[in-house]
Amino acid sequence: MKYLKLNDGNQIPAIGFGTYKATEEEGIEAVKTALRNGYRLIDGAAKYENEVAVGKAIKESGIPREEIFVTTKVWRENLGYENTKKAFEDSLQKLNLDDVDLYLIHWPANAKNFENWQEINAETWRAMEDLQKEGKIKSIGVSNFWVEHVEALMKTAKVKPAINQIEFHPGYWQPEVTEFCQKHGIVVEAWSPLARGKVFENEALKKIAENHGKSVSQISLRWIVQHGVVPIPKSTTEERILDNISIFDFELNSDEMKTMNELPEMGFSGELPNIWPDRIPQE
Ligand SMILES: NC(=O)c1ccc[n+]([C@@H]2O[C@H](COP(=O)([O-])OP(=O)(O)OC[C@H]3O[C@@H](n4cnc5c(N)ncnc54)[C@H](OP(=O)(O)O)[C@@H]3O)[C@@H](O)[C@H]2O)c1
Repeated sequence: MKYLKLNDGNQIPAIGFGTYKATEEEGIEAVKTALRNGYRLIDGAAKYENEVAVGKAIKESGIPREEIFVTTKVWRENLGYENTKKAFEDSLQKLNLDDVDLYLIHWPANAKNFENWQEINAETWRAMEDLQKEGKIKSIGVSNFWVEHVEALMKTAKVKPAINQIEFHPGYWQPEVTEFCQKHGIVVEAWSPLARGKVFENEALKKIAENHGKSVSQISLRWIVQHGVVPIPKSTTEERILDNISIFDFELNSDEMKTMNELPEMGFSGELPNIWPDRIPQE
């Protein structure tokens, strides 16, 4: 497994495993299969309601805890200092772990919903800084933050976010946020890296995949890795789980990168941090 260095001295695997909608038995099996096939980053969230399953899978995998990079996230209804501390303890208990490697603010409080959105995010962050100081979280970060949200947070933050996890896949990759984060030493993680299956319908991607003798999934994930971004694909099928991690034995050339950068919008979720929880309706 390759690793990227974080701005707090920790390191994160170059690819991870997503667990959205993988609950109960299916979730346990999927996470165990991922770990057996070499994944060392498991991306979870309180909102996915599968922390118990993720925790069980980690224990049952037989892989030493310290080799696995465990992420969970505080949901938007639990923002604020006391709420975040409580939500974190609840997650830790469900995961049945002593600590997590990464804790993220799942979605920022935003101007549409809260007059004092900056203060809510700042207080949430202060709780995360305190939990980090107590040794319960190794790295702290954000998710779905635009530049304006990161800049506002940095006004009071003592610790810079190590990560920003955003929607990032061919056809929708938020280059402005990515560039800003990378310039400030914040590693970007790519959620829905396969656009929840939409990438498989694209002819340009099929052609690039064919040229390399790889799958559309592999070239999509490889494109993300070559942007210095950490993809966290989700699958419940062993063959696909293995396919998705087998992306370190080939390289896309600059023309292919450019073609993929310039693809028309495809697979956008409709979710934006400044209107959340509303979404832009998609076809
Ligand atoms: N921070 C956030 O707000 C946020 C939001 C959304 C997601 N996430 C995280 O990002 C992770 C990934 O995103 P996602 O689950 O939305 O979508 P995704 O990884 O882009 O796509 C998952 C879909 O692609 C299929 N798939 C996976 N690998 C495949 C392959 N090699 N060939 C064909 N089909 C394949 C899966 O089907 P099968 O399962 O049937 O294989 C599944 O239906 C989530 O699980 C979650 O951890 C975070």
